[in-house]
Amino acid sequence: MEKPRISVIGVGYVGLCTAVGFASKGYTVIASDNDPEKADKIKEGIPPFHEPDLPAMLRETIQNGHLHCLTNQTQKAVLETDITYVAVGTPSRPDGSIDLQCIETVSHDIGKALSKKSQYNVVVVKSTVVPGTTQNTVKPILEIESKKKCGTDFGLCMNPEFLRQGSAFHDTFNADRVVIGGNDKKSVDTLENLYKDFYGVNVPPIIRTTLSTAELIKYASNSLLATKISFINTIASMCEKIPGADVKAVAAAMGLDKRIGPLFLDAGLGYGGSCFPKDVKALIACSKAFGYNPELLESVENVNQIQPLKAVQFCKEQLGNLKDKNIAILGLAFKPDTDDMREARVIPIINQLTKEGAQVTAYDPVAMPTAKKIFNNQIKYATSAINCLNDADCCIIATEWSEFKKLKPKDFKENMKQPIIIDGRRIFDPEEFKQNTHFAAIGLGE
Ligand code: UDX
Repeated sequence: MEKPRISVIGVGYVGLCTAVGFASKGYTVIASDNDPEKADKIKEGIPPFHEPDLPAMLRETIQNGHLHCLTNQTQKAVLETDITYVAVGTPSRPDGSIDLQCIETVSHDIGKALSKKSQYNVVVVKSTVVPGTTQNTVKPILEIESKKKCGTDFGLCMNPEFLRQGSAFHDTFNADRVVIGGNDKKSVDTLENLYKDFYGVNVPPIIRTTLSTAELIKYASNSLLATKISFINTIASMCEKIPGADVKAVAAAMGLDKRIGPLFLDAGLGYGGSCFPKDVKALIACSKAFGYNPELLESVENVNQIQPLKAVQFCKEQLGNLKDKNIAILGLAFKPDTDDMREARVIPIINQLTKEGAQVTAYDPVAMPTAKKIFNNQIKYATSAINCLNDADCCIIATEWSEFKKLKPKDFKENMKQPIIIDGRRIFDPEEFKQNTHFAAIGLGE
């Protein structure tokens, strides 16, 4: 059977991994993005962001012609393909609710293209959108612009993504499940067949459901993971008050219970990134709009707001007044293996430290260019972890990059003014570090 041709509108890390994933399996993929800088880089085979394993396959699929990238040509991409993925951004508005502007713009363009098409096309919403969006926003725009009927003349599905940054390309080929929300049977069958062909013998469970259930599955999944993190951070705060208690040991033992599981129980400075903070806020706003106040999720969000500032509190407990104190920050990315700093927990930490008059020097293996756009000259940037420690009064570990895990107490003792360490990501052995340094850590009782 001939493979369907695929278009992907919006090539952020989800869109690009999807596009390269299909292209690597021999599908013809046409991507389009309205950001010329991003599109130009992709045309040259260079990912516009740091994502392990992606560069080689992107280069190969661009060179072998399976992947084409266009600049702001949604209609052309739709006209030349059979299945169209929408993977544009859905940022938060100031009140936490979801901003659907990009989704709406793209839907208008896709609808216009559909009006010129004779053959059946399935539109697949992959962007994270609150329940009701595909049915009540995307579908009417497509029908009005195309003057066609959804379900008979063209198909519509909602297919959430669960890719983690830093392992997004690996996750593209190794999904735990595929969720397909559908407007009608033919659309869902088309997408199910596509995924059966894509995954071959390794096809994960495929869940067929309604559009709004598919939308909610994404939010419910991310909100539960965020809840696990805020839960363990709550236990960490208790541990800090209980002599001899250690959240790491608590989490390890809890995780052995099969009903709980070991993942997403790492206490730290809280969750950041492009998804969890935005999705929890959007689900709260959406739930309230539907008439239910989700108090549990409001607490999850509140704990996450307070968590990073605990690093500043620890600093003050060790140093007193922070004015003119040199603070070294190791790690800027919201998590390791990415240069992304969206909602990175280090941002409120640095803002508070500088507000209190501290001099901040930071180092991150890949996120320094991103940090420079956020902080400009407000902080100094070091050339290595050791260089960052030079002459520092206190060091905060803010991201658990593997290169920081190799640091030893002597590295801090030899380079800092005084070896005061705040392990915000629990990467060091307290026994080893407590003997040789002034060591404080999230979730570690005195
Ligand atoms: C997340 C979801 O995992 C993914 O399924 C979804 O599609 C997009 O959002 P991502 O944002 O890439 O992926 O990061 P993830 O690895 O889930 O971590 C999110 C944040 O939680 C990071 O800031 C991380 O440091 C923090 N975290 C994670 C913890 O603080 N503790 C943990 O135990 C796990």
